[in-house]
Amino acid sequence: MSQPTFDLIVIGSGPGGYVAAIRAAQLGLKTACIEKYAILGGTCLNVGCIPSKALLDSSEHFEHARRGLAAHGVQVQGVALDLATMMARKIQVVKDLTRGVEGLFRKNKVERFSGTARLVSATEVEVTGEGEPRKLTARHLLIATGSKPVSLPGITFDGRRIVHSTDALTLPEVPARLLVVGAGAIGLELGSVWHRLGSDVTVLEYLDRIVAGSDAGSAKLLHRSLERQGLKFRFGVSARAARVVGDEVQVEVAPAAGGEASVEVADVLLVAVGRRPFTDGLGAKELGVRFDPRGRIEVDAHFQTSVPGVFAIGDVIAGPMLAHKAEEEGIACVERMAGVAGHVNYDTIPNVVYTWPELAGVGLTEEAARERGLAVKVGTFPFLANGRAKAMGEKDGQVKILADAVTDRVVGAHIVGPRASDLIAELAVAMELGASAEDLARSVHAHPTLPEAVKEAALAVAGRAIHI
Ligand code: FAD
Ligand code: NAI
Repeated sequence: MSQPTFDLIVIGSGPGGYVAAIRAAQLGLKTACIEKYAILGGTCLNVGCIPSKALLDSSEHFEHARRGLAAHGVQVQGVALDLATMMARKIQVVKDLTRGVEGLFRKNKVERFSGTARLVSATEVEVTGEGEPRKLTARHLLIATGSKPVSLPGITFDGRRIVHSTDALTLPEVPARLLVVGAGAIGLELGSVWHRLGSDVTVLEYLDRIVAGSDAGSAKLLHRSLERQGLKFRFGVSARAARVVGDEVQVEVAPAAGGEASVEVADVLLVAVGRRPFTDGLGAKELGVRFDPRGRIEVDAHFQTSVPGVFAIGDVIAGPMLAHKAEEEGIACVERMAGVAGHVNYDTIPNVVYTWPELAGVGLTEEAARERGLAVKVGTFPFLANGRAKAMGEKDGQVKILADAVTDRVVGAHIVGPRASDLIAELAVAMELGASAEDLARSVHAHPTLPEAVKEAALAVAGRAIHI
């Protein structure tokens, strides 16, 4: 039998796939990456993390210009929205970054194939794109085909009035009334974008709280803050059906516990109730790759599927659907293939919701610690008492640190506040290095900065915060 053409073929060029391909090439593996779309970067770069953050940043500027500058003594008149320019900027940000991935592939000699991949055997892939389908062979295959949005029974996306996150990133005009189903990351981030741009936003949530799974106290602070900004929430309800009537969408909203439904009317309905692993047409099932009941590919500790030689990472396997989780798995997976000891520490993966204030967490929540029977000491420090936050005009939020009651080791941290997304990195590193709250408390933090709130929360773990 002839030698396979590649050491590794990666299927999918999202943050899991493209990072894995680059790392594999760095390690000397002859690597190919197959992507069905003409543009590299997957969900994250094209219709996820990056365009949503571009719109969040732009809409924050708009909001600040309208309502935030006067308090700083900056008078502005005639602030107006130019949605077309905002969208064009977002497209350019995406273009720059996806071209960057193309450049990185060239630099690292990752061979790129355009087309849809189908597994033929554990070492063979058929690529269907323009022209005749072609077969590629490799010693190892890595599935990084990501995820797609899901809808609800009785609700069908039409791309205009009943939309998922991809459409909600490109609405042609600001909807007067936006109804969002799901108070998770997508619902809150895109709900915030359109609210800042002028929509009347109502979020319908099945549970009794926002951002399920995050620290409950921190989520409550964010919820209050978003309500003060004008977002409305209805908890314990579910959208049962939706239909477009003329220029409106009528949504049947029923109590989650069952009972009589009411009808809500909106201009646009955004359904943000989660995503499903995407393996349609991949041929993985036919090859004998095992899936769990939620449609995720099962892998072992080396990210190998039930078919030897075939690996999987990112949104298509279990775990949080996050770009940095997919990247770390991609790196660990190919490092192990190359005989390097790659590793993902699932206890230190930060999770961020990029609203304003932001919500960021890493490690155990208070609720999870209780469930595990782990005694923790908790230290909190409010941004109200932080000099830099005060100078910025930021009053909302706090840093909360959880440390093991016996060893003082940091086991979790939860931040609501300005730039929580940046602040959480210190806590993730601290946890990775096995730091104690005392280690953080004794580390010098520049003054006046937001990270001083982290130091103060660490001091508060031992009951000796200075500024509160
Ligand atoms: P994907 O990025 O989904 O990439 C999979 C790729 O595989 C796609 O390009 C697809 O076209 C390709 N593919 C699929 N099947 C085939 C096939 N048969 N042949 C060839 N190619 C194929 N995460 C964060 O960490 N931070 C954020 O701020 C954040 N914001 C988000 C905002 C939104 C609106 C959304 C929707 C998601 C966001 N996420 C965020 C989640 C993040 O985008 C995903 O977790 C991440 O993209 C998963 O990476 P992946 O490589 O596993 O898959
Ligand atoms: P999600 O799983 O984060 O939140 C979905 C919410 O919808 C939950 O609160 C759930 O209780 C609610 N829900 C489910 N069914 C419902 C119903 N019938 N009626 C009312 N509410 C219902 O999903 P989301 O926001 O769609 O995001 C998908 C994935 O994308 C997430 O896993 C997330 O990690 C990722 N993502 C990450 C971002 C980030 O890191 N900042 C930003 C956007 C997405």
